[in-house]
Amino acid sequence: VNVNIITVDHHKHMSKIASEFIYEAIHRNPNLVLGVATGSTPEQTYERLVEKIKQDPIDLSKLKTVNLDEYVGLPREHEESYWQYMIQHLYAPLELSIDQGLVPDGMSANLDEECIQYERKIERLGGIDLQMLGVGVNGHIGFNEPGTSFDSNTHVVELTESTRIANARFFQNQQDVPTKAITVGISTIMKSRSIILLASGNEKATAVSTLLKGEVSPEWPVTILNQHDDVTLIVTKDAIETE
Ligand code: GLP
Repeated sequence: VNVNIITVDHHKHMSKIASEFIYEAIHRNPNLVLGVATGSTPEQTYERLVEKIKQDPIDLSKLKTVNLDEYVGLPREHEESYWQYMIQHLYAPLELSIDQGLVPDGMSANLDEECIQYERKIERLGGIDLQMLGVGVNGHIGFNEPGTSFDSNTHVVELTESTRIANARFFQNQQDVPTKAITVGISTIMKSRSIILLASGNEKATAVSTLLKGEVSPEWPVTILNQHDDVTLIVTKDAIETE
């Protein structure tokens, strides 16, 4: 397996290591283009990163962030939009400027054009230096659901029932969970210069253990990471064992 693995006991420890990893990357390269993930996995990582930056300030004026995905049909102001997530967890506490971030526009009248433009904007930034990733229970990365082509660029996806159920906890009712999203593609993710993958909790164990078997299969999108040469997996013990 071509993945550097850091196993930890607790979610808290995973978050600490991930936040230090990101802090060091910004410290080394203030022009960093950081690919950012949402979901519950990285919440405490952002929290720790904010704390660390407040303790030991670093120059954030040239940092850029690029989101993996966004729901279709949620306005930016919606509390469950990924824009709001970034504002809440990173932009407001660090007083970053909105111009420093890219998030797909899920309200665009022309979603296919939005996808083309998003991909171009990433290219214009010079590509992603460090991509943070979480993983879905079914092995999705970003919102690249099982079966997505490994050659995919930014595209519109139909969310699977299992992903909508997994994300229902953030919404009032399950029917409020959007049915579509825009996500960067697997090819976009694979072009990142380095990747950190965070996984915590036993529900991720099948996805993580499939990755660590070393096979590469579109049925488990996360397994493509076996073909990247700079991946660090930071994982809690219970997310590695399938029992
Ligand atoms: C979400 C996001 C992914 C995230 C994954 C896991 O729906 N689109 O970027 O990595 O699914 O989410 P969580 O961390 O909440 O388990």
